[in-house]
Amino acid sequence: MSSCSFSLDFSKLPQHVAIIMDGNGRWAKKHGLPRIYGHKVGAETAKKIIEKTYELNIPYLTLFAFSKENWGRPKEEVEGIWELFRIYLQKERPFLLEKGIRLKVIGDRKDLSEDLRNLIAEVEEETKHNSRLNLCLALSYGGRDEILKAVKEIAQKAKQGLLDPEKIDEEVFRKHLYTQDIPDPDLLIRTSGEERLSNFLLFQTAYTELYFTPVYWPEFNEEEYLKALYSYQQRERRFGKVYEF
Ligand code: IPE
Ligand code: IPE
Ligand code: MG
Repeated sequence: MSSCSFSLDFSKLPQHVAIIMDGNGRWAKKHGLPRIYGHKVGAETAKKIIEKTYELNIPYLTLFAFSKENWGRPKEEVEGIWELFRIYLQKERPFLLEKGIRLKVIGDRKDLSEDLRNLIAEVEEETKHNSRLNLCLALSYGGRDEILKAVKEIAQKAKQGLLDPEKIDEEVFRKHLYTQDIPDPDLLIRTSGEERLSNFLLFQTAYTELYFTPVYWPEFNEEEYLKALYSYQQRERRFGKVYEF
């Protein structure tokens, strides 16, 4: 039983929630533990939030797990994070299959080790017909990097005469983003008190509702998640239009 003092409208949930899972390191520090321990507990939080998203029938969840810029962290931490990721993905493979969850990775795969690339490709392939929940993991992802990749691909096509520059519109552009088959996030949650995007989904969040909480990711839980969803339901999304009474 949740102790929440508000009631969610289950007919008005966001269709796509994106989360910047931040604060693992500070959580570990607060508890006198090595940073990698924060990432381990953070991975467990991610599992719980995936389960809750599934229960709520929200069809898209995108988790920012590792940014392009995170490669600049100490080698030990970077290696530890990827090792953890490999272990969790192997462990949760049957869970994804059993529940009907589709995995999709966005980001620059060429930065990942061959082993991991292969594992990800296998899990994406074996879950590709699942549709109950689309779980999107952002790995070695950078929003500017993604936009530049799209620009380069489009420029190449134009150069080869395959695309008329006059016909480059939002729809064409979106087809060149990692998120080509994913709708824009309705709600973006960032934990740990930081209030910035840190290069996450720059193009896609133009009209996304933002929710910031001081809670560190390892401490984020079902109740905090419901609070964020409730806050979303209080917002009036206008998309530049005039609100109709
Ligand atoms: C988020 O937690 C996880 C990753 C970026 C991989 P951090 O590791 O950024 O934790 P803080 O921000 O240092 O507390
Ligand atoms: C963003 O968090 C990346 C992830 C959560 C994976 P960071 O901790 O890397 O962002 P900054 O450095 O505080 O902006
Ligand atoms: Mg951080």
